[in-house]
This record gives sequence, structure tokens and C-alpha cells, in this order.
Amino acid sequence: MKTEHIILSIETSCDETSLSLIRSTKISDTEVSIEKISHIVHSQAELHAEYGGVFPALAKREHASNLVPLMLELIKETEGKGESVFVNTGAKELNEKINLDIKNLLDREPELYDNIVRHLIGWQGNIDAIAITQGPGLEPALWVGINFARALGLLWGVKTVPINHMKGHMISALFSPEKSSLISPLFPILGLLISGGHTEIISMSDPDTFSLVGKTRDDAVGEAYDKVARLLDLPYPGGPEIARLALEARERNLVSEAELPRPMINTNDYDFSFSGLKTAVLYAVKDKELSSEEKMMLAGEFEEAIVDVLTHKLSKAYKEYMPSLCVVGGGVAANTYLRERLIQSLKEVQSDAEIYFPTQELATDNAFMIALALAFNISFGERSIEELAEDEIKATGNLHITS
Ligand code: KG4
Ligand code: ZN
Repeated sequence: MKTEHIILSIETSCDETSLSLIRSTKISDTEVSIEKISHIVHSQAELHAEYGGVFPALAKREHASNLVPLMLELIKETEGKGESVFVNTGAKELNEKINLDIKNLLDREPELYDNIVRHLIGWQGNIDAIAITQGPGLEPALWVGINFARALGLLWGVKTVPINHMKGHMISALFSPEKSSLISPLFPILGLLISGGHTEIISMSDPDTFSLVGKTRDDAVGEAYDKVARLLDLPYPGGPEIARLALEARERNLVSEAELPRPMINTNDYDFSFSGLKTAVLYAVKDKELSSEEKMMLAGEFEEAIVDVLTHKLSKAYKEYMPSLCVVGGGVAANTYLRERLIQSLKEVQSDAEIYFPTQELATDNAFMIALALAFNISFGERSIEELAEDEIKATGNLHITS
């Protein structure tokens, strides 16, 4: 069985257009070496900031106009490393059938079609698979990435494999940047997935099997950060802004007078609810002109409430599931205070409990994690690229990790 694979991955589920190219080499039953050949993340956050959140039609348009230029950047970077993954054949025209297939596929993305014809025709990609985010995310944004991936698949005769974005977040924590490898842990593992659209605890019992332990009943934790940031007049995305103010409040020992609720902290399940917390902040700021210290204190208390709930629920799940390790993934996993508190609270449950986090760069949306998820599956799972590949991939906004 082939142990080395070149994987191109594409991520367009929200407001990051991202591409990556990796070489994965299985070196043992529990380790796959990962060579990051190229990784590009183009954030549209500044464009969306004006709307205070992601504007789907704008995200779609931006992905459509940026994908080909970013692909050319990836090809250039790859060539610069002396890799011969992409070869320029000098061809000026497409085979008639392939041209027609790509044209039909990109019927609703004429700009993307023109860009492909103009800039990518001469290039041949010698890769083993294209990993593409199928969902969850914004469907118009997902569709552009999927159609682009399928067009490249037709152009180069390469299989396209749909990948669940949340699985990418979960697997990103199993990548060790020091060793540049991905490990397969002993199962089960427990995942805390916390992003702008999701808050859930997932149990993974083998590389292909995920089950839901608990989830938010309303807002996701990243969404709560973003909404509270808006209430405090902070720019989008709000997570890093709140985290910065909360850090300053902790450093200066500024403690809020308003005590915010810790929703569902003591319920007998693993579910969450954050919309009441946001409403409590709304009442705390209503009709008031807050000083910068007051904003800091409120941000600090809000972060404290979030971290209390997340640490409490993950520790409780740890006691019941006794996993070999916990992983944390998603944009909110970038939060350093949350990381410290999660480590500390699991240690209190079991002194040698292990918890892995993605690097800061891999916590928020990126294509590298999508390539990692495929590398993980073909190296440690039951199915090959051929079995995982699909000809027709449907963007699925609410795709669940357990499906
Ligand atoms: O995973 P991600 O990049 O996109 C989604 O799949 O949603 O997560 C984005 C979310 C946003 O809500 C953002 O405010 C939050 O992650 N975030 C943070 C931090 N960095 C990003 N939240 C808290 N603290 C942070 N340092
Ligand atoms: Zn995400």
C-alpha cells in the first residue's frame, strides 16, 4: 500500500480563503510525517468588519475572485522549494470535453471559469487527492470552494474528497509542529470544539467514528464573544479583542461589580447555553457610557464566565468518558487563558491527564487542517482515497461531525 501522498486542500467555509499542499508519509501505525509544502490563508475579516459579522454574498464573491490568484501563489511557492508537484506543459487550450465539463460546473461562477482558463490551463498538478471542506459553514461560500476543487480535479484527473470542517479543527490538535507529524492516539479521545458556529463536546472512538456528548442549545461560544464585543463597541472578530481586554483586567486586578451568570454549569448533561450570558451583558451596558476600565472589567467577567462553564463541563465529561486524551479545536481554542484553565482543571481530575491544542495559527480557519484530516483518515482509518472520494459533492451548511 502506498504510504506517501501529496494532498492539496481548499477551505472556504467562512471568511478565510485558504489553500495548502502537504506531503504525508506514514512512518508507523501511530505516526504520519507531515511536510507542509505550502500554506496560504487569506483573511477577509477586514472587509466583513464593516458589517459587524460575515456577510455571505461578499464572502462568496471574494472566494471566487481570490482562489485562482492564491492557487498561482501556491504553485510559485511550491516551485520555489524545488518541488516538481506542478509542471507547466505549455498547453494553451483545454481538451474539448474537459473544457465543457468545467464550464458546466462553473456555470454560476463565470469569473472563476475565466480565471482558470486564463491562468491555470498550462499547469498540471501531480497530486494524489484534493481535500475540500464540504461543511459546516456558509453554503454560498462552501459551494465556490467545492466547485473550484472539482474543476481542478477535472483539469488534472485527481480525486476530490469531501472533508468535515469540524473534523479538521479536531485533528489539528493532533499535529505536532516540533516533530512535524500527526499522531494517532489511543481511543477514545474527547474533543471540545469551540468556534464561531459551534460549541460541542465530541467523543471519537476510532478515526471514522464520532459521537455527540453535548452541544450548545443556542449561541456558539465564539458567537457570544463576537456579540459581546459588539455591545462593547469592539471590532469584528470580537474574540481576540475581548481576550485582550480581559487579560488587561486580570493583570490590573480589575474586578467587575456586575456578576454574570454561568449558564447551565450545574445541569446534569454536557450541553451549553450562551445567549443568556450575552443578554446579561446587554443589561449591564444598557444606557451607560462605559469607561475603558469598565469595559475591561466586563470583558474579564464575561471571559471568566465562559471559561468557568467550559472547564467545568469538559472535566465532568472527562470523568465519565475517561479518554486517553482531550483535544480542543476551533477559533476560540486560540484563547490562552482558556488553555491554561483547561489544563489546570483536567489536572485536578487526573494528575496525568493530557490535553492537546492546535498552534495559534491552526486554531482559526485554515486549509492545512483540512489536509491533515484527510492524511489522518487515509493513514489510520479503514478507507482509501478512492473510497473516500466523491464525484458530486454537495455543500452542506449544517453538516454534522457525527454524520
Ligand atoms: O474556527 P473559526 O476561525 O471559524 C469558525 O469556524 O467559526 O472561529 C472563529 C471564532 C470567532 O467567533 C472569533 O471571535 C473566535 O473564534 N476567536 C476567539 C479568539 N480568537 C478567535 N475567541 C476567544 N479568544 C480568542 N483569542
Ligand atoms: Zn472553523
